[in-house]
Amino acid sequence: MRICVAGGAGYIGSHVSHALVNAGHEVVVFDNLSTGLRTSVPEKATFVHGDVSDPLLSRKTLKGCDAIVYLAASKDAGASMLDPIRYTRNNLQATMSFFDAANDCGVKYVVFSSSAAVFGESQYLPLDEDHPKDPTNYYGYTKLEIERVLAWYDKLLGIKSASLRYFNAAGYDPDGKVTGLERNPANLIPVVMEVACGVRKGMQVFGTDWNTKDGTCLRDYIHVTDLADAHLRALDHLEKGGATFAVNLGTGSGQSVLDVIHAAEKISGRKVNYQAVGRRAGDPEALWASGEKAKQLLGWVPKHSSIESIVETTWNAYKANGLVK
Ligand SMILES: NC(=O)c1ccc[n+]([C@@H]2O[C@H](COP(=O)([O-])OP(=O)(O)OC[C@H]3O[C@@H](n4cnc5c(N)ncnc54)[C@H](O)[C@@H]3O)[C@@H](O)[C@H]2O)c1
Repeated sequence: MRICVAGGAGYIGSHVSHALVNAGHEVVVFDNLSTGLRTSVPEKATFVHGDVSDPLLSRKTLKGCDAIVYLAASKDAGASMLDPIRYTRNNLQATMSFFDAANDCGVKYVVFSSSAAVFGESQYLPLDEDHPKDPTNYYGYTKLEIERVLAWYDKLLGIKSASLRYFNAAGYDPDGKVTGLERNPANLIPVVMEVACGVRKGMQVFGTDWNTKDGTCLRDYIHVTDLADAHLRALDHLEKGGATFAVNLGTGSGQSVLDVIHAAEKISGRKVNYQAVGRRAGDPEALWASGEKAKQLLGWVPKHSSIESIVETTWNAYKANGLVK
């Protein structure tokens, strides 16, 4: 297939683009490089530098494409509460403008990057697809809204889609093809890596009195290589006539903050200095997802998502960037 990967120079998008190229697809990466890196785009992919809100360039790029993988978005849930207009523009208006162009160009399939944030507070664990969807931040609302638009576009326009709800994407390509680090990372694993390699002196652990095995929060970390594999499977499923669907991509279990810190200490051989501080407002105690529906529908089973594999491949990316002295 000829596939346009919008946001394909980003952290997850570059892994997806490499996987699509490896599987023999013709890939066009469309990215404004606001957070993505040109160097992360596979050599065999065509690169178009542009914004998905540009109607002319979008149409020119999408001509002849069978499918789009749509990852272009702003992703900071906290920032979405402080600057909702920016999230309206990028995650709703720009996305819809691109889908408009895709429809004009006869694109048949869409794989959309959705998020665990569509659920809001968990009422039970693991989170499955039937769990109520009630986002607690504007970012999550934008993702849910696009999922709903896609369900309508199937009924009204015949565009088949897959909404893939990632939990905490982590890790780097085990073969070392993608090593581009995220700029100003705020997520736990990059922060732990920065402490291990000395870029940061230390870090804070928010809350050590949660009702969990070691008192720290639990999260579901899913390796980007497993996420990339799910995109391939989703496209294959749609191409074979599968119906529009939404699935959660998680491992079915949670890792604590201390699990991550201890794995990083073991793999790097360095001490991770941290300070235990009070709970942070809005942090849920534990979150993990059932990957059962993705397994049933797509035959998707995470293979790289042990915390050791996630931390090791991330550490290797930090080494490749010369950050480990
Ligand atoms: N990282 C996670 O844990 C996670 C979890 C759930 C969902 N997601 C979603 O997955 C997608 C990819 O996330 P990521 O972690 O790779 O983030 P990222 O910031 O690395 O990737 C986003 C990419 O989209 C590009 N982009 C943004 N707005 C654009 C626009 N208007 N036009 C063209 N390009 C644009 C950026 O330059 C970047 O390359 C996002 O939609 C995000 O909301 C991520």
